[in-house]
Amino acid sequence: MFTRQLKINAVGFTCRLAGLVCCFTFASSLAVAEELAVESPGKVLKVVCEVKDGVPVYSVSRLQRPVIAESRLGFEFKNGISLGKGMKLAGSRRDSVDETWTQVWGEEKRIRDHHNELRVDLAGVDDSSRKMSVVFRVFDDGIGFRYEIPMGNDSWEITNELTEFAMTGDHRAWWIGAYQGNRYEFRYTDSPLSKTEKVHTPITFETADGLYLSIHEAALTDFSSMALWRKSGNTFEADLYPWSDGIKVRGTGNIVTPWRTIQIADTPGGLIDNYLILNLNEPNRLEDTSWIKPGKYVGIWWEMHLDIASWGSGPKHGATTEKTKKYIDFAASNGFDGVLVEGWNHGWEVEWGDSFNFTKAYPDFDLPYLAKYAVDKGVRLIGHHETGAAVENYERQMDAAFALYEELGVRAVKTGYVGHGQNIVRTDEQGNKHREWHHGQHMVRHYRKVVEEAAKHHIMIDAHEPIKPTGIRRTYPNMMTREGACGQEYNAWGGPRRNLPDHTTILPFTRLLAGPMDFTPGIFDLLYEKERPGERVSTTLAKQLALYVVIYSPLQMAADLPKNYEAKPEPFKFIKDVPADWEFTEVLHARIGDYVTIARKDRNSDDWYLGSITDENGRILQADLSFLTPGVKYTAEIYRDSDDADWDKNPYGMVIEKKQVDSTMKLPLRLAPGGGTAIRFHPAK
Ligand code: NOJ
Repeated sequence: MFTRQLKINAVGFTCRLAGLVCCFTFASSLAVAEELAVESPGKVLKVVCEVKDGVPVYSVSRLQRPVIAESRLGFEFKNGISLGKGMKLAGSRRDSVDETWTQVWGEEKRIRDHHNELRVDLAGVDDSSRKMSVVFRVFDDGIGFRYEIPMGNDSWEITNELTEFAMTGDHRAWWIGAYQGNRYEFRYTDSPLSKTEKVHTPITFETADGLYLSIHEAALTDFSSMALWRKSGNTFEADLYPWSDGIKVRGTGNIVTPWRTIQIADTPGGLIDNYLILNLNEPNRLEDTSWIKPGKYVGIWWEMHLDIASWGSGPKHGATTEKTKKYIDFAASNGFDGVLVEGWNHGWEVEWGDSFNFTKAYPDFDLPYLAKYAVDKGVRLIGHHETGAAVENYERQMDAAFALYEELGVRAVKTGYVGHGQNIVRTDEQGNKHREWHHGQHMVRHYRKVVEEAAKHHIMIDAHEPIKPTGIRRTYPNMMTREGACGQEYNAWGGPRRNLPDHTTILPFTRLLAGPMDFTPGIFDLLYEKERPGERVSTTLAKQLALYVVIYSPLQMAADLPKNYEAKPEPFKFIKDVPADWEFTEVLHARIGDYVTIARKDRNSDDWYLGSITDENGRILQADLSFLTPGVKYTAEIYRDSDDADWDKNPYGMVIEKKQVDSTMKLPLRLAPGGGTAIRFHPAK
């Protein structure tokens, strides 16, 4: 957090500042050497880059211990050119940066970017027109590197990325498979890395000697997503999602790749309290951000997943004018900012896709009337664009669809791309149809286009079935949140695929390292035996509350039906109180797949909130309250599992109590099996 002292050693002197932006840069050309090294500002991490027998390689160590063994760098192109062999060092340059910037919204208001940079220029031994630079940025808690390849005005096609990540042992890994039908929506596997095949990033590792690593990428804007495949032994190689013709990435002009990132910490919590991915993205490009507002919403949503209502027209149609008014009234009287309405537009009756019309409402849904009704009550409708993965149909209508919402005062749109496998239809200039992956370059471009077009219409995006987050929210802060993992909906109809009690104790160390998630917490009727026999939520009620703090999302849903909140007003108060925008985040306890406790300070008040969750095992954790402001007495409003609570046998067992606390105290958190604790700390009057 920013109140900590800033210490800069990179340029040979120390600077301590509080509350000021601090930025130092120096650059120098070094003589060409066989081996180049760069250390992080606090000399914690070191990257070595060298060329061995013409092959560019890098390695990473932490406090002299190897973390990434010698690993290849480079690319291969369709025209036969390889930048991974026959190379020599051609020059290098160094920079050092220490600056602090402010997030428009987020889990931490002020982010410090403190790194040393080494740029290594490489050229072909026999053909100096083969050029490639690798830019390393080394922070104390991780590294990023990207490639810059001068191409003039030429068109190019990449057939292979050679980047390796040679792990130093058969580490324990938490991962989901790449190239799977359901995109990203799987429970994580916990296994030795030798059991992985092709995996998505972020992939997280625990080493035998107690280091925690996460490999991912940052600033994926016009490239294919990087999956990883275990090439041999403990070595992964980048595996770029291909176009339907097998080409991995194509373009014209100079190549600047996304950053390949490795977060490195000596505690699991150190992976969470880590802003490397954001720091490697470009600063905010939107001049006016006054229309971008984090907040909480309710919606006509869960009832479709429980099959009480339908998206399509008919006797069960959910999105009616009458029902939406009730949701708006409920939102207004309980302080919610938005009401999501799914199934409001034509096209849901047939297979989801080309049928969708994004400007034509069903006759029983009066869009202009409801949008105004909402605004008059201080609430906004949240729009919905389910594309069924038919992106050409969506792109044809996108401008008109965003314009319509903008005109009606809608500020946020949830998009959806339900579709399985390599099923995105792309029509080429000759009219031939091709099938692309969600994570290929074609779709990376599409998702980016949606964010940019939405920004022109002052619309925030909540993307479901998205590509993975890579920090674009820094550059386009209207890219608020996304799904991109197994969310709450799997508890409605997932059967054997539904979330188990440990799922949300893995997400903070895997998927959430990449960015916010619209998990849609807050289910109060945990069993819905009548609506969906055999399905259920595998948590206690208190854990549903704790998820509002643990799983960060700037648009946070209260996902259950209003009547279920009305039936339990006491725990509902926590959802009404908890904010969606934070000044500070502190991780108090963390063990991947077992438990996690996170404390966050509200950006707009002096309140702190704490969420603590556990897997299927009950446990008692001691929360050190030293994050609270010293000398201030707080009332802790505690929502905890009762002593006999258990996600399976007694999920509703809950105690709500108040205690007077201060920063010198420790508070025991008693978590039931599959349970949690949620606390609001409010300065006592
Ligand atoms: C899948 C999304 O994740 C879910 O939230 C939405 O309700 C359905 N698609 C329909 O768009």
